[in-house]
Amino acid sequence: MAIFSAMFVISNLLVFFSKFSYATDTITQSRPLLDGSTLVSKEGTFELGFFTPGSSSNRYVGIWFKNIQVRKIVWVANRDNPAKDISNMFSLNKEGNLVLLGQNQSIVWLTNVTRAVSSPVVQLLDSGNLVIRDERDNGNSEENFVWQSFDYPCDTLLQGMKLGWNLKTGLNRYLTAWKNSEDPSSGDFTSGLKLGTNPELVIWKDKVEYYRSGPWNGIFSSGVFGFSPNPLFEYKYVENEDEVYVRYTLKNSSVISIIVLNQTLYLRQRITWIPHTRTWSVYQSLPQDSCDVYNVCGAYGRCVINASPVCQCLEGFKPKSPQDWNQMDWTKGCVHSEPWKCGVDNKDGFRRIEGMKMPDTTHSWINRSMTLEDCKAKCLQNCSCTAYANLDTSGGGSGCSIWFGNLVDLRVSESGQDLYVRMATSDTDAKHKLSKELVLVIAITVSVVLLIVLVFSYIYITKTKYEENGIWAEEKDDGGQENLELPFFDLSTIINATNNFSTENKLGEGGFGPVYKGTMVDGQEIAVKRLSRSSGQGSKEFKNEVILCTKLQHRNLVKVLGCCIEGEEKMLLYEYMPNRSLDSFIFDSVRSKLLDWPMRYNVLCAIARGLLYLHQDSRLRIIHRDLKASNILLDSSMNPKISDFGLAKMCGGDQVEGNTNRIVGTYGYMAPEYAIDGLFSIKSDVFSFGVLLLEIISGKKNRTVTYEERCDNLIGHAWRLWNEDIPEQLIDSSLLDSCNVSEVVPCIQVGLLCLQHHPEDRPNMTSLVVMLSSENVLPQPKIPGFLIKNMSIEGEQSCGRQESCSVNEVTVSLLNAR
Ligand SMILES: *[C@@H]1O[C@H](CO)[C@@H](O)[C@H](O)[C@H]1NC(C)=O
Ligand SMILES: *[C@@H]1O[C@H](CO)[C@@H](O)[C@H](O)[C@H]1NC(C)=O
Ligand SMILES: *[C@@H]1O[C@H](CO)[C@@H](O)[C@H](O)[C@H]1NC(C)=O
Ligand SMILES: *[C@@H]1O[C@H](CO)[C@@H](O)[C@H](O)[C@H]1NC(C)=O
Ligand SMILES: *[C@@H]1O[C@H](CO)[C@@H](O)[C@H](O)[C@H]1NC(C)=O
Ligand SMILES: *[C@@H]1O[C@H](CO)[C@@H](O)[C@H](O)[C@H]1NC(C)=O
Repeated sequence: MAIFSAMFVISNLLVFFSKFSYATDTITQSRPLLDGSTLVSKEGTFELGFFTPGSSSNRYVGIWFKNIQVRKIVWVANRDNPAKDISNMFSLNKEGNLVLLGQNQSIVWLTNVTRAVSSPVVQLLDSGNLVIRDERDNGNSEENFVWQSFDYPCDTLLQGMKLGWNLKTGLNRYLTAWKNSEDPSSGDFTSGLKLGTNPELVIWKDKVEYYRSGPWNGIFSSGVFGFSPNPLFEYKYVENEDEVYVRYTLKNSSVISIIVLNQTLYLRQRITWIPHTRTWSVYQSLPQDSCDVYNVCGAYGRCVINASPVCQCLEGFKPKSPQDWNQMDWTKGCVHSEPWKCGVDNKDGFRRIEGMKMPDTTHSWINRSMTLEDCKAKCLQNCSCTAYANLDTSGGGSGCSIWFGNLVDLRVSESGQDLYVRMATSDTDAKHKLSKELVLVIAITVSVVLLIVLVFSYIYITKTKYEENGIWAEEKDDGGQENLELPFFDLSTIINATNNFSTENKLGEGGFGPVYKGTMVDGQEIAVKRLSRSSGQGSKEFKNEVILCTKLQHRNLVKVLGCCIEGEEKMLLYEYMPNRSLDSFIFDSVRSKLLDWPMRYNVLCAIARGLLYLHQDSRLRIIHRDLKASNILLDSSMNPKISDFGLAKMCGGDQVEGNTNRIVGTYGYMAPEYAIDGLFSIKSDVFSFGVLLLEIISGKKNRTVTYEERCDNLIGHAWRLWNEDIPEQLIDSSLLDSCNVSEVVPCIQVGLLCLQHHPEDRPNMTSLVVMLSSENVLPQPKIPGFLIKNMSIEGEQSCGRQESCSVNEVTVSLLNAR
């Protein structure tokens, strides 16, 4: 009851206000619509009038829902030609065209009627369509309209509007987003039907294909989830000689639901008006997730949203460039794993792949009446045919759709369908059609083999265990450095190489100890990290860790060459990186100019890939725990490599994940849950990555900057700029020449997402790599963790006490007194 009375009051208020303006039901030459008055549809659903969006002073003519309190403009007449003052007039001219007259009777905007009519009338229909027709042509059917606003959509698709083509006149009706919420002029994003043998719904960004839904499959499309069945709306697709379009109808007339192409966040949204909360609620958005990015996995690759990594080759295919593929660069896609030659020895066959969004239809062919068998035969006839499928999946499947050339933009989709992909016979389903006897024989053989493998591995494991305890000691006794598996070096070799750890050879003081440059007898340059004696772990565990680390190989990780253990001394040997560390560039006013935006962006992506490898793709799952600018080294071509990985573990933090008494890390980079509670996980590395990202973009250290009189660190500063909608002010001034602000701002957003207070709100490295490399829509960050400059570990530091803000770039390693 309370809700109803509140609504009653509001509608009364609206009536009260509208008494000031004068509402009309038509526009004629002698009765133009003046700025301030409105035209209302017969049943009062829609209203047309002048409006000014947000804080701008521009005047526009638009249509909106009359009785919805949160005004949603569904159509704008003069979106690209704003009127500048309020002496405007919306009128009908002699030719029967609607015209918007601005100051001095100048024409701001004009319709284009398809034919002249003797006595034109203008009407706003209850569908939201503004139409011009001849007075004598009764009935509001489309043929009678000489002009209708439904033919010129803005960013909103209302019930009954056609999205698509009139093939006779060439009229293409498509949505164009607003530039921003205060500017209705045409934005970068458009959405409509792409014509071709098999039209698809597409979203373009600056006319480049950004998202495709997949072709119409009788219900909606194989790429869009959750359409069938639903209680809200129903789509209808029409394709004939005259027209190709899609439109929807709402099933329940008391529900208000529209589609909006949004410039900012999730592009294409269906929003529904919820009367009792008086809000528009988002029902569905496109793109749905990062797999919807156009062709993210390359040819013959499919995107599986919950998999890690998200891209996989189709069965029977392998990465074209395994190296790039493993580095998560999927653009080159996949190729047949077995060479396939068309028609040779009748080796052709097809493999059925379930649940797929149909590939891009640019190079395809269809026939509505063919059966699936005919379709297969048709595909076999042409050597460029690579796949076939049913055209229509409703009612058990019908029609034929075949593809030529590479299959691109594939994903696994909840509403996907079967796709039959061509390959050599030995690769296809044929081999699964085995006789029962054969299956039995194979089953028996397999179990026997399994048994043997089990027995052998049992023996093998026992043997290795023994070796770990026994033989290693011997290895060390006779130097052991010859063995590739055990890359140990003598202390004397190291002393020779580093000139007895001379100060000239000292490269710096990293976490866990000083680093020296060394030159081996054969001329190879190395970096030697001399671990502080206190960092206590038994020699054996240490050795194990080093061996594991030497096995980690990724182009964005510094290569661990080996170690040296003698008495109390423990040393790690790395490849030498001539360009030192990233902090010597980004925080230096002169050297920072050497790293322009494209290079820094590369650095970011490369670090992300290296970290992803540590977290997921190496079998060891290593959490770095001390990721920071000084741990990113640059090789001679300025490729970044992560160093000091695994050190946290070698130096005493023994768990893989969880709670530790020994906190290892660097103030300013540590995630809140790690610094305060000692809880670490891959997500605490993500936090450090977020800090590093902001530092690379801003050229400022998180620990040292103070902004204004606020007690703000870099994170807080970035968050404030983000909220004030001026994130570009974060960008290092030496980058401004080389960057396009619109490329940097999404990176800042990614950074803030990494810095979320709760680990579960931070993305993992897989999503991060995708976020950085695609132009996908990103979630909005919430308030980050550690906004204040001084985090208080034992509560003894407080904000504003300048002395406690002093920089300590060296890794801290402290026992948490708990
Ligand atoms: C409107 O007319 C006045 C006087 O006729 C002229 O000074 C002014 O420049 C005109 N403005 C526009 C926008 O044409
Ligand atoms: C108006 O329509 C005619 C024919 O339909 C077309 O030739 C002309 O270019 C259009 N003019 C504008 C301004 O759209
Ligand atoms: C875009 O979507 C966001 C989130 O739903 C919304 O706040 C914003 O107003 C939308 N913008 C436009 C222009 O519709
Ligand atoms: C239509 O929607 C209204 C409001 O949501 C609901 O009360 C009603 O039951 C719906 N009618 C049908 C036929 O679903
Ligand atoms: C489609 O297939 C049917 C049945 O095989 C055939 O009769 C018809 O000619 C085909 N249409 C086209 C356009 O190829
Ligand atoms: C195979 O299909 C391609 C693409 O449609 C076409 O250009 C070519 O002529 C076809 N070849 C044969 C032998 O039908």
